[in-house]
Amino acid sequence: MARLTVIRWLILGLSCLFLLSGCSFTNGSTAGKTLTVAVEPTFPPFEFQSGTSELQGFDVDLMNAIAQSAGFQVKYQNMPFAGMIPALQTQTVDAAVAAMTITAQRAKIISFSRPYFKSGLAIATRTDNQNITNFASLKNKIIGVQIGTTGALKAKSLPGSEIRTFNDSPLTLQALINGNVDAVLNDQVVILYGIKSGNLNRLKVVSSLLTEEFYGFPTPKGSPNLDLINQGLATVLKNGTYAQIYQKWFGIQPPQLPEKSPIENQTSKKGVSELFTSLSIIFKSLPVLLGGALVTLELTTLSVLLGILGGSLIGIVRLSPALPLRFCAGAYVDFFRGTPLLVQIFMIYFGLPALAQTFGFTLNLNRLVAAVIALSLNSAAYIAEIVRAGIQSIEPGQAEASQSLGLSSVQTMRYVIFPQALRRMLPPLGNQFISLLKDTSLVAVIGFEELFRKGQLIVAESYRSFEIYATVALVYLFLTLLFSQAFSRWERSLNPIKKQSK
Ligand code: ARG
Repeated sequence: MARLTVIRWLILGLSCLFLLSGCSFTNGSTAGKTLTVAVEPTFPPFEFQSGTSELQGFDVDLMNAIAQSAGFQVKYQNMPFAGMIPALQTQTVDAAVAAMTITAQRAKIISFSRPYFKSGLAIATRTDNQNITNFASLKNKIIGVQIGTTGALKAKSLPGSEIRTFNDSPLTLQALINGNVDAVLNDQVVILYGIKSGNLNRLKVVSSLLTEEFYGFPTPKGSPNLDLINQGLATVLKNGTYAQIYQKWFGIQPPQLPEKSPIENQTSKKGVSELFTSLSIIFKSLPVLLGGALVTLELTTLSVLLGILGGSLIGIVRLSPALPLRFCAGAYVDFFRGTPLLVQIFMIYFGLPALAQTFGFTLNLNRLVAAVIALSLNSAAYIAEIVRAGIQSIEPGQAEASQSLGLSSVQTMRYVIFPQALRRMLPPLGNQFISLLKDTSLVAVIGFEELFRKGQLIVAESYRSFEIYATVALVYLFLTLLFSQAFSRWERSLNPIKKQSK
């Protein structure tokens, strides 16, 4: 007993140590300190990872040079672009290298360094598209954008445009090549670099620099590191290091940069009104989130129905006496259970059209179709196993008995085996339904606007991650509780003993 207690304490102590080692503490002094800097390395030539998986790019070189001249260390932390502002707000990171445009809305909640790059938006489209020439011509067109970017904001302001949001900018270009969107709105340099380095010769930039933007390094409001970064930036601008880095990445001399951004950092106001702001954000976003919940339900129902159909078929084939059939069904289950659903979604939405193109024909998968295909193919694999196990769990004596009573094998299945197997299959089927309901959130990666994506989109504009994601979680919880209740009722109604005792 005593030994057990010692072991328990030892494990507890070790876990605490482990947890503490994972936390980092910052002190007030700035000498030789390490800054945690967020980076999303899918935005070449500003930040990206090449084949060697080494982090590189204009921003990265510049930040490293600033760190060297200002005397601090940098620890890069990968993070999606749309998550950076919330992470800066909560001071999870000290800064970000993200080719982030200084905007008035952002400057209210985070503080930007002085401008370090002059940029602007541009439109990319396919070379064979002649009618997209400027912002006005994007009317009623499908525009691909990266979530949370100035491109996304601009697209939203264009009348009559349909927007598809993607998590990173290479995915927007891929969607453009595949024909899923008509145009992409993004930072001009990034589009040009993407087309050049990715050998995307089917794409072109229609007009350059449609807007004027300046990039700044963002820090949390009131951060002592902002001065440090500004000082370092001033030094590298003066001593020629900046020009060298610019030359290295763009092959030209840098343009003149303003010393101060036209958009000033604002001081943050916090207080009692904070709670009201949170509540009003939740109330305002609720209708949109509930709309997303309906889409989630639609997606789940469609995928479950198709999954049950396919899964039952495969489950029965798994029990067939023909070895090749059994083998194929087994391989299907192994593949779809053994690979991540996220990879399957990418394969279907981005991979299949690209494959079709290499064979010379166009396959333009609608997002709903792609999402339903991916989810139902995946759930069919799990349902097949549930069906197989359910049928196999019925004692062979039952089949023998019903056949000796003269029932055919179809009748045996229909009247004897299946009704009993269904009762056993219901609890795992209920689990599968609930897992699928939650897994639908994965199709957010193809820009499908179900519940989770709707939440992400609201966060990308309001930067209220806690309030919105908590509301999203509650809506999911409400749905899953509702369905688990429904399934247990159904289960009870199929139980002959409980039914009799009523
Ligand atoms: N400059 C644009 C913005 O600030 C796009 C930045 C995207 N950056 C990235 N690392 N993906 O909204």
